[in-house]
Amino acid sequence: MKRTKIADVLSREDYGATVVVKGWVRTRRGSKSVNFVALNDGSTIRNVQVVADVEKFDAEVLRQITTGACLSVTGTLVQSVGAGQSVEIQADAIEILGTCGSDYPMQKKGQSFEYMRQHAHMRLRTNTFGAVFRIRHNMAMAIHRYFHEHGFFYFHTPIITASDCEGAGQMFQVTTKNLYDLKKDAEGKIDYSDDFFGKPTSLTVSGQLEGELGATALGAIYTFGPTFRAENSNTPRHLAEFWMIEPEVAFYDIHDNMDLAEDFIKYCIRWALDNCMDDLEFLNKMIDKTLLDRLHFVLEHDFQRLTYTEGINILEEAVRNGHQFEFPIYWGVDLASEHERYLVEEHFRKPVILTDYPKEIKAFYMKLNEDGKTVRAMDVLFPQIGEIIGGSEREENYDKLTARISELNIPMKDMWWYLDTRKFGTCPHSGFGLGFERLILFVTGMQNIRDVVPFPRTPKSADF
Ligand code: 4AD
Ligand code: MG
Repeated sequence: MKRTKIADVLSREDYGATVVVKGWVRTRRGSKSVNFVALNDGSTIRNVQVVADVEKFDAEVLRQITTGACLSVTGTLVQSVGAGQSVEIQADAIEILGTCGSDYPMQKKGQSFEYMRQHAHMRLRTNTFGAVFRIRHNMAMAIHRYFHEHGFFYFHTPIITASDCEGAGQMFQVTTKNLYDLKKDAEGKIDYSDDFFGKPTSLTVSGQLEGELGATALGAIYTFGPTFRAENSNTPRHLAEFWMIEPEVAFYDIHDNMDLAEDFIKYCIRWALDNCMDDLEFLNKMIDKTLLDRLHFVLEHDFQRLTYTEGINILEEAVRNGHQFEFPIYWGVDLASEHERYLVEEHFRKPVILTDYPKEIKAFYMKLNEDGKTVRAMDVLFPQIGEIIGGSEREENYDKLTARISELNIPMKDMWWYLDTRKFGTCPHSGFGLGFERLILFVTGMQNIRDVVPFPRTPKSADF
């Protein structure tokens, strides 16, 4: 007989039917005459209760039904008398697919997230991580649905690249050279001509530059893939390997770009509320009691839009009124997360889009404003998270762009293909990058970005 997923069993009402379920034991309790086994197969946060009459089963089989063990149960669907569930399974046959000893690392309830991270291969079987990764899947689906419904094409940009999009020098090098026998020339430089690609290459920090090539041909594209940053930031918001969604649209100015960002994020949050309520309710109860309120709040409010300069004025005013920040605040400073969170959580108390940052603290490709000092950048700042999206209108003017590239000493000859978009039929265009894990942090209420990706990559940590 074919196995039925527990998610499907729980919605059935054809009492008396025979069903087969397979899954892992969450708990077992019982008396001399009857055992109750809570079985979970990952299809839903909810367990199905299996009722086993002790006299019907071999004592050895019952003994092997321990937390973590894997079972196949054939039984009869019956209406449940217990609270919180409508059906249960009266077991006729139980097969132990895999026993589980008392050294099972997820045995105890209430282990710390730190402990769970050290057992990331097994934490997936807990309620919390099951909920997080079902939601993560749903968010990926929502993202593809959103862009598909809005006429964007999913565009695949390379993971191995020879250009540094953000110019921050935080790239992981890719080489097949023998590091034990690196030959250098007279000036001490490594000769890459015999390396795999014949030049230095790295893992991409962003698919944007290639995304712009796509957008200025297909009109509107989005990327959705892994990106890599060798930034040594040990924070609850940074990963060395994270997933980014980068829409890029021809003929969009920064206002269109902000409208897109706001509409897109709200769509994803609405999707979670419409499709993941069981998991969200669990997280709201166990992890963050304000989660559901916060999700609804974001949906119901317009994001506050203001310039960086206006933001700095508000922060300076806060300092004058006695608010203490760890880092100094002045025009030109790259905002720290405490500054962003002050604007979002204390001043406006809703998501904020900051625009028109000083050019010195932003990447080379952003469109220069008429003042010559600021660029048409936009960062979307979220409660609890800080920056969730970074984007801009792009500099489409060939001369202005090349001037900026020279100013920043970016090797022009490596950028010829990018500059060609400005040479041949250039057009205004804009785009942004959403950090997928930061979105998942917000939607799940989890506190640490290491807990919303199955196997996190962070400084000094690449297990599993
Ligand atoms: O602001 P960033 O660096 O922007 C770009 O990479 C642009 N090329 C995007 C574009 O315009 N197409 O990164 C975008 C977003 C951030 O707002 C943040 O959410 C996330 O990516 N992010 C990280 N997430 C996790 N770990 C890290 N180390 C991250 N760095 C950036
Ligand atoms: Mg940024």
